[in-house]
Amino acid sequence: MDRLLVYGGSPLRGVVAVASAKNAVLPILAATLLTEEPCTITNVPLLEDVSTMVRLLSSMGVSVARQGRRIAVAASDRVGKEAPYDIVRKMRASYYVLGPLLARFGEARVSLPGGCAIGPRPVDLHLKGIEALGARVRIEHGYIHARGRPLRGGTVLLEGPNGPSVGATANTMMAAVLARGTTVIDGAACEPEVTDLARFLTGMGANVEGAGTPTIRIRGVRRLRGVAHRPIPDRIEAGTLAVAAAITRGRVEISGCRPEQMTAVVDTLRATGADVEAGRKKLLVASEDRPLGVNISTRPYPGFPTDLQAQFTALLTTGRGTSVVTENIFESRFLHALELNRMGARIDINGNMAVIQGVERLSSAQVMASDLRASAALVLAALAARGQSEILRSYHLDRGYEQLERKLAALGARVKRVTG
Ligand code: UD1
Repeated sequence: MDRLLVYGGSPLRGVVAVASAKNAVLPILAATLLTEEPCTITNVPLLEDVSTMVRLLSSMGVSVARQGRRIAVAASDRVGKEAPYDIVRKMRASYYVLGPLLARFGEARVSLPGGCAIGPRPVDLHLKGIEALGARVRIEHGYIHARGRPLRGGTVLLEGPNGPSVGATANTMMAAVLARGTTVIDGAACEPEVTDLARFLTGMGANVEGAGTPTIRIRGVRRLRGVAHRPIPDRIEAGTLAVAAAITRGRVEISGCRPEQMTAVVDTLRATGADVEAGRKKLLVASEDRPLGVNISTRPYPGFPTDLQAQFTALLTTGRGTSVVTENIFESRFLHALELNRMGARIDINGNMAVIQGVERLSSAQVMASDLRASAALVLAALAARGQSEILRSYHLDRGYEQLERKLAALGARVKRVTG
């Protein structure tokens, strides 16, 4: 199993480019199931989660040709209608095939995902969305069986106790594009990745209005066509690199990102005292001092993203004073805190709150990655720590970051991967 060795203490300097957003690419790949015509996705990052989605589509009989960063997909009328447990348990985003399969074929069987390191991840809103379109849903033998032909437009509120759901909004949108009549999704997630999916669907000939706002209106069409699409840049990777600059007291230009989709992150970084210049498609982040303590509350977009909570927690462990980080989306998403404490951080977890007393310096340690963003937090902490840290189970990182260690090394970090 791969590990990362990180020798901390070097300020990062230079220019680094971000890849396309994993969380945009995954639903878009699933959406290619909506047409038999070929679709091409370009600038696709080389990530484990993308490979898993490609494996899922291929296992269903979809023709998928991957050439570097370009993926061509064609889903004939004869594709399978099932996402098996074996793949879904590795990647929850597999459930994105539910909406498109149901829309095009009137049936879908998708394994229930089960537990996850960041806490319970229910699917009730996904089911509420498709049921509003007339689908009948049974849960049997660990699988969701959904049927409905034709689907008919309906009105549905997709807000749960923690706010809107990105996954349920995307699934319902994909189910609605081929339904008869008009669907209105209220309480829709406003994340840029939802908007990008809408852009992809519109390119296919769908009629989607209001994506990026809490109300999305979809007028069903009879059929969709193939399209070529380049997904939006990854705001979470950009945010992670921004923290890498700040935590090492470095100066890094993050190119190819969209600062306008990262305002909560930019504001928070500035509040820690970092110097952040937001340009057109780039961010310049520089820091000379320990960060100031700040309070962060994760919120649905445009609020502070839960997917950057762990990385900012790492930054604040080296802060001056106390910070409070409140996690409102996935309440038990604090496994990284225990590992950070092994590196000398002082974090107390109280329910969904982490109270962080900043320390002058972290110390290196062997630590264990528990999930994707938690692993990124450990790498960031290791970059700032004195001595050599070892991050075990780094495969979590490869699910969502394309060769993070290479990007960091190009900025002057002393980091290497050990295989086996
Ligand atoms: C997506 C992202 C993930 C990000 C999350 C929140 C992808 C592949 N993943 O995950 O990286 O952390 O958005 O921005 O894009 N909920 C329900 N019922 C449901 C579904 C969700 O109550 O049926 C709750 C969840 O428990 C959570 C909240 O809604 O508290 C938001 O979850 P959701 O937006 O659905 O997350 P994902 O789409 O799984």
